[in-house]
Amino acid sequence: MAAFKELVFSGVQPTGNLHLGNYLGAITKFVALQETHDCIYCVVDLHAITVPQDPETLRSSIREVTAAFIACGIDPKKHIVFNQSQVPEHAELAWVFNCVARLGWLNRMTQFKEKAGKDRENASVGLYAYPALMAADILVYRATHVPVGEDQKQHLELARDIAQKFNNDLGPSIAAHGFGEAFFPQPEPLIQGPATRVMSLRDGTKKMSKSDPSDYSRINLTDDADAIAQKVRKAKTDPEPLPSEEAGLAARPEADNLVGIYAALSDASREDVLRQFGGAQFSTFKASLVDLAVAKLGPIGSEMKRLTADPAAIDAILADGSERASAIARKTMDSVKDILGFVRR
Ligand code: AMP
Ligand code: TRP
Repeated sequence: MAAFKELVFSGVQPTGNLHLGNYLGAITKFVALQETHDCIYCVVDLHAITVPQDPETLRSSIREVTAAFIACGIDPKKHIVFNQSQVPEHAELAWVFNCVARLGWLNRMTQFKEKAGKDRENASVGLYAYPALMAADILVYRATHVPVGEDQKQHLELARDIAQKFNNDLGPSIAAHGFGEAFFPQPEPLIQGPATRVMSLRDGTKKMSKSDPSDYSRINLTDDADAIAQKVRKAKTDPEPLPSEEAGLAARPEADNLVGIYAALSDASREDVLRQFGGAQFSTFKASLVDLAVAKLGPIGSEMKRLTADPAAIDAILADGSERASAIARKTMDSVKDILGFVRR
């Protein structure tokens, strides 16, 4: 396959409480990749409206996710931070991809099935087409690497299928326009480490999620030390002490989850954590986990509060990022139009 310049892209929806799962599964990876790659990080507001949103809440969530990116250590000057709706090429390429993706492919998407629930007839068309928009987000920059949590794996596979079908279907035109044998790269998911799927603190078999009605199910990035301590103390566990080896976590989802969280927060492996805490009671382990989580998340929460107090400054960051993102996206879209046979100015 043709060689593409390595470029990182990822997105987070501005839909309420950013939590420890978003942080460990995605945002910490975004931060680390800045050292080795050019990165584009997007607040995906077009994705958010696939389900109903209150306009004022949406506006403040867009600013809050932006603040979280920056508070966690993303540098919006060296890299690009912006919100999706300011770069219309996302929606434009998504339409093209709606015409590339097959109904059969979208019918397999488990996230749609979960989110649409029983009343599928009443789900928005946007919720169904969501993965084609996600593919457009990535491919409008011809990005090659996509850090995400485990739940996005299937959507990434679909993005690869769309890229490949576009490259195949339009092969001769792609070559005729000087792009060799492939116009789009096959974007690679980066799903690594001990916390690619952080589970609910109330139920170790359910994903930690922004929309869980129980706030005790998750640790929010804006939780203060008291809230973090309470939630960890109340987190569901089983009566056994911690095992000293990973195999001992097998049928213990809550224990596995807390050990995974501890490992990710301390940049260690589950094995390292069990070497330290094997044989300990949960009360001891939870006390250490509270200290660790407060030390890591406390400063992020206060920095987010400081940043969101100045919405104009956040909007300026998004405007600057959008301008730089647009320059890349426009170029891709011009080429896509040429390849498809559209007449353009
Ligand atoms: P979302 O909030 O759905 O836009 O997700 C933003 C990012 O966080 C995506 O890369 C997700 O895969 C990741 N993510 C969301 N929930 C979790 C979780 N419980 N564990 C790990 N990663 C997650
Ligand atoms: N669908 C992703 C989520 O819910 C968010 C997202 C939208 C995304 N576009 C993306 C992630 C592009 C990575 C790349 O978590």
